[in-house]
Amino acid sequence: MICPHIFGIVALLKAIHPGWSHAAIKSALVTTASVKYGYDQCAAAEGAPHKKADPFDYGGGYVDPNKAIDPGLIYNMNIENYALFLCSMDYNETAIS
Ligand SMILES: *[C@@H]1O[C@H](CO)[C@@H](O)[C@H](O)[C@H]1NC(C)=O
Repeated sequence: MICPHIFGIVALLKAIHPGWSHAAIKSALVTTASVKYGYDQCAAAEGAPHKKADPFDYGGGYVDPNKAIDPGLIYNMNIENYALFLCSMDYNETAIS
């Protein structure tokens, strides 16, 4: 069920901030997400034994649409920025494409 929830929140953000790119929206969602949910409880991983969730379980965390609307700071990137980043990591043209 996460996909329709995130899709709805992305549509809300896009309606409020029509100029935001995909990267800006993702940034707003991830930088305002929380790893705790109601009653200040930490997320638990699925499966047995039950353990406290880590980033491999919760990803960016629990999305908070109200905070994502006004995240304060967004990391906006386009394909050229990603290519320059990969070049700086010594990826060659073949590897990047
Ligand atoms: C590009 O990088 C890949 C992975 O490191 C390597 O296998 C390949 O030989 C490189 N190609 C060139 C043209 O340097």
